[in-house]
Amino acid sequence: MTNVPNITLNNGVEIPQFGFGVYKMQDKDEFMNVMKMVFEAGYRHIDTAAYYGNEEWLGQAIKESGIAREDFFITSKLWNADHGYEETKVAFEKTMKRLDLDYLDLYLIHWPSDHYVETWKAMEEFYKQGRIKAIGVSNFQIHHLEDLMSQTEVIPVINQIETHPYFQQDELREFMSKNNIAHEAWGPLGQGKSNLLTEPILVKIAENHNKSVGQIILRWHVQRGTIVFPKSVHKSRLEQNIDVFDFELTDQEMKDIKGLETGKRLSGDPDDVEFLKESAKKKID
Ligand SMILES: NC(=O)c1ccc[n+]([C@@H]2O[C@H](COP(=O)([O-])OP(=O)(O)OC[C@H]3O[C@@H](n4cnc5c(N)ncnc54)[C@H](OP(=O)(O)O)[C@@H]3O)[C@@H](O)[C@H]2O)c1
Repeated sequence: MTNVPNITLNNGVEIPQFGFGVYKMQDKDEFMNVMKMVFEAGYRHIDTAAYYGNEEWLGQAIKESGIAREDFFITSKLWNADHGYEETKVAFEKTMKRLDLDYLDLYLIHWPSDHYVETWKAMEEFYKQGRIKAIGVSNFQIHHLEDLMSQTEVIPVINQIETHPYFQQDELREFMSKNNIAHEAWGPLGQGKSNLLTEPILVKIAENHNKSVGQIILRWHVQRGTIVFPKSVHKSRLEQNIDVFDFELTDQEMKDIKGLETGKRLSGDPDDVEFLKESAKKKID
């Protein structure tokens, strides 16, 4: 079982740097089966969201694991249709009921849709009550972070953003680092949407270390101090993904990967107002 290092967030809470994401896991039997393998492989940090439709199964998998609650780090997210002060209070209670947990380790605003300031104020209250150990955001650009921080009290601990070697987010990372906001990468392997896993430069580096390309990409994230939680429903992949703490990429290899930046996202753009409006039409029960 791999020993995963912790990262200390700006409020003193510790988060395992390596976790498992459960986006697009929508078959219950497969979910329960995969989670057994995930816990066995040593993952304790799980990233879900109201939007993923599997919070209830995750709560059940945690209970059935027999592992103590305090050994887990559980993240969920408030969906775009639920923004606003009162709406957030209702959405959070629903998430907690589905997960059937006493507290949540991390609650994130999923996307910067309208009314995120009011949303944040409700999240601050749950945080102060101890029902959420840390609060953060996802898909926030610099201007969203500046706007939020100028109107609210608690600084987000984390910004969870699309990040992989083709879209490295250096400018936003620098802003986050200056403001002590940790970087979580979603789609760390490019979500299987591009040629990232067959990229010749990465294939060469993988050969140098006798590792897979997936492991090289995940090691690159870890070495940049980023928190990652790749998803896989396959035992061999989920075991190999977390096994990236026994080797190091050289400065030259890190530079070669830096050169892969394309400036292009593979998924949704947080500044695309129409996309945010459209997504907010999907209500979560
Ligand atoms: N905040 C947000 O807006 C947002 C958006 C997207 C995702 N997320 C979070 O980030 C997590 C990770 O992102 P993601 O699931 O979208 O994408 P990802 O982890 O980059 O990629 C997952 C894809 O890669 C495949 N894969 C996994 N390990 C592999 C390996 N070693 N070799 C080859 N292929 C491999 C998986 O296939 P198999 O399952 O078939 O192995 C799956 O198709 C999500 O699960 C979710 O928790 C957040």
